[in-house]
Amino acid sequence: MRKMISTKLHTILALESSCDETACAIIHDGREVLANVIASQADLHAQFGGVVPEVAARSHIEVVIPVIEEALQEANLTWDDIDAIAVTRGPGLIGSLLIGVLTAEVLAVEKQKPLIGVNHILAHAYASFLTDSEQPKFPMLALIVSGGDSRIMLFQKDLSFELIGQTRDDAAGEAFDKVAKLLGLPYPGGPNISKAAETGNDRAYKFPIANLGDSYDFSFSGLKTAVLRQVQAIVGDQPGLADLRKTYQLPAETISDIAASFERTVAETLVTKLLRAYNAYAPASVVVGGGVSANKRLREGILSAIPDARVVPPVFCTDNAAMIGALAYQMVEQGSGVLSVEQLAGTEVGLTADSSLEVI
Ligand code: KG4
Repeated sequence: MRKMISTKLHTILALESSCDETACAIIHDGREVLANVIASQADLHAQFGGVVPEVAARSHIEVVIPVIEEALQEANLTWDDIDAIAVTRGPGLIGSLLIGVLTAEVLAVEKQKPLIGVNHILAHAYASFLTDSEQPKFPMLALIVSGGDSRIMLFQKDLSFELIGQTRDDAAGEAFDKVAKLLGLPYPGGPNISKAAETGNDRAYKFPIANLGDSYDFSFSGLKTAVLRQVQAIVGDQPGLADLRKTYQLPAETISDIAASFERTVAETLVTKLLRAYNAYAPASVVVGGGVSANKRLREGILSAIPDARVVPPVFCTDNAAMIGALAYQMVEQGSGVLSVEQLAGTEVGLTADSSLEVI
C-alpha cells in the first residue's frame, strides 16, 4: 500500500554535516529538542589551522551512523517513533554534505520515511524556534553570522524573505579565524580570540569600521588587514604584501589587547547595522544566530541595543542538527520541501554546495 505523508510530522530526526561537525538531533513539534548530539572534528583540523575538506568528509563517514544511534538512544526512541528525516542540503563543503545527504536518502528509503532537504543558513535563523517560551513573530529580522556567512534578512511567516544586508567580502567568523591565526591562536579562532580578549584592553588599538554608506552591508576584509598592519608595526616587520597566512610571535598581553580591540570592532559593526535595520523595518521580532553569535561581547552588545532580541543559546549557535529539524518542521507546516519515499526513487534531495538561499 502507498505510504502517505501525514500532514503532521511531529518527530523529525535531523542530520547536519556541512562542515566539520557531524550532528544528529531529534525535534518534536519543531521546538522541543529530544536529542542533540554533535561530534566536532575541531581537534582533527587544529593541527592544520583550518578545516581540511577531505579529512572532514572521511570523519563524517566514520561517525555519522554512531551519532544517529546515539541520538535515538538519548531520546529513548526507535525508528518507529520517527515521522521524517531532515538533512542539510547546503551550502557547505561538497564532500561533507554528500555524506549527510546520502546517509539521509538511504535511511529514508530503508526506514520508509519522508525526507526534507534544508538550507543551512536559513536554519541558523530558525534555531530561535527551539524554545519552550513564545516563538518569534513575523516579520522576523535575522542576523546570521557564521564562518561562511554574515547576513541580515527579513523573514515572513511563509518562509519567504528579503536579504537586507550581507558581507561584501569575508564572513565575520572567517575574520575571527584569520586574525586568530595571525596572532598564533589555535583553530577555531572565534572562541580563542574571545578567551584571549577577556584580559585585554578593548581600547588599546583603534581598528577601522568600513564605511558602506546607508547600506546594511558589512565588510571585514579591511579590518583583517588593519590587524595585520598593526602586528607588523609592533614586531617591526616590513609591511609588504599582506600575508595573512603568517603567524606572529607576540607577548600575551599584546595578543589580548589586539583580540579585545578586534572583537569590539566586529561587535560594534554588527550591532550598528542590526540596530539600523531594526529601526528601519520595525519587525515583530529579532533573532540572531550562527557561530559568531556565541560571542559574549556580541551577545551583550545586541541585547543592550535591542533588549527583546532573541540571541540563540550558544549550543544552537555553532553548527548543530537541532536547527535543521526546527526549520524542517516549519517547511512541513508550509507544505514545502518534503519528498515522499516514492518521490525519492530517482530523485536527489537537491544538494547545493554554493551559498544559495532558496528554501526548498
Ligand atoms: O555556525 P558555525 O559553527 O559554522 C558555519 O555555519 O559557518 O560558525 C563557525 C564560526 C567560526 O568562524 C568560529 O570561529 C566562529 O563561528 N565562532 C565564534 C565563536 N564561536 C564560534 N566567533 C566568535 N566568538 C565565539 N565565541
